[in-house]
Amino acid sequence: MAGIPYVDMAAQFAAERERLMPVVESVLAGGMWVGGAAVEAFEAAVRAYTGAAHCVALNSGTDALALGLKVLGVGPGDEVITPPNSFVASTAAIVQAGAVPVFADVLPDQNLDPERVAAAVTARTRAIMPVHLTGRMADMGAIMDIAARHGLAVIEDAAQSIGSMLHGRQAGTVGHLGCFSAHPLKNLNAAGDAGFVVTDDGDMADRLRRLRNHGMVDRDTVAEWGVVSRMDTLQAAILTARLETLDDVIAARRANAARYRALLDPAAVFMPPDGNGEFNTYHTFVVQVDRRDALRAHLAERGIGSAIHYPVPIHLQPAAAALGHGPGSFPVAEAQAGRILSLPVHQFLAPADIETVAVAVNGFLA
Ligand SMILES: Cc1ncc(COP(=O)(O)O)c(C=O)c1O
Repeated sequence: MAGIPYVDMAAQFAAERERLMPVVESVLAGGMWVGGAAVEAFEAAVRAYTGAAHCVALNSGTDALALGLKVLGVGPGDEVITPPNSFVASTAAIVQAGAVPVFADVLPDQNLDPERVAAAVTARTRAIMPVHLTGRMADMGAIMDIAARHGLAVIEDAAQSIGSMLHGRQAGTVGHLGCFSAHPLKNLNAAGDAGFVVTDDGDMADRLRRLRNHGMVDRDTVAEWGVVSRMDTLQAAILTARLETLDDVIAARRANAARYRALLDPAAVFMPPDGNGEFNTYHTFVVQVDRRDALRAHLAERGIGSAIHYPVPIHLQPAAAALGHGPGSFPVAEAQAGRILSLPVHQFLAPADIETVAVAVNGFLA
């Protein structure tokens, strides 16, 4: 589409072609196409970037969450508290682990409301899974306090938040495990599916390493039943190269967000909060507006792409019917689902593009 696309993978490839093609060629020539030294190098690079003691590379962010729950000991009969306005993967991972997802509503900023989390704790609660939606961290201080009070594990869904910080702590490094996605649409993106877990707990990292490879501890010994969730060598090599420029990607997105903040009419547009110790990485720039669908159509007519993350809260999905929630169960998340709109914020936009989008949004809402 001409105009201002919501994402621009062609621009990404054009910008990095020269740097990336030798990396791709060397992996293909090397003949080691699953796991290997390139995966270890990626894990080391993530440790250096996050400061976590361990990183385990996996095949997806969903696997990071599902296997993460497993190594935390979460299983049948356990409850895990999580927000209902995430991408479906966070809840799906809880179901995959055999546990019961218990939703807690969110704050106006779209992240978990700690008061609702505290109210949702029962004798069966085993873990809290906050989601750092949009590249902006949930209130980890309050969440860790609740977890400590009740002896709960905290598994961070940091799929959208590599590099995000709150009061100097990086997303994924505050809880017991941090789970990341490197899906093509993430700020740190593979050329396919990939994900990883960070933790300071060596035992959990070791167990994740064997679970990702059939539960094998060596070529001939299966210690427990596992899965296949190894990272492709090619993805690891691409991710290591892209991690080197992640801070530039984040800086460009933050600059775009700052431009929106200066240009959009705050009386008509609720913008994501940013301040008070936050370092937000803007995986998405999600505004909340009246007449969202009409605004989206208005933008589309002008060649401006946008997206909705996510139009149907998880508790209202057909798959969640057995959990017994209906409309009104989580009113804040439900109200936001009808008002949220993700504006283009990617790193290949020029200041003039942001201005064009802002003028179109303000013009429509005036
Ligand atoms: C909040 C959230 N959690 C989990 C995931 C799952 O990651 P993946 O697609 O790598 O499985 C994603 C992204 O897709 C996500 O945005």
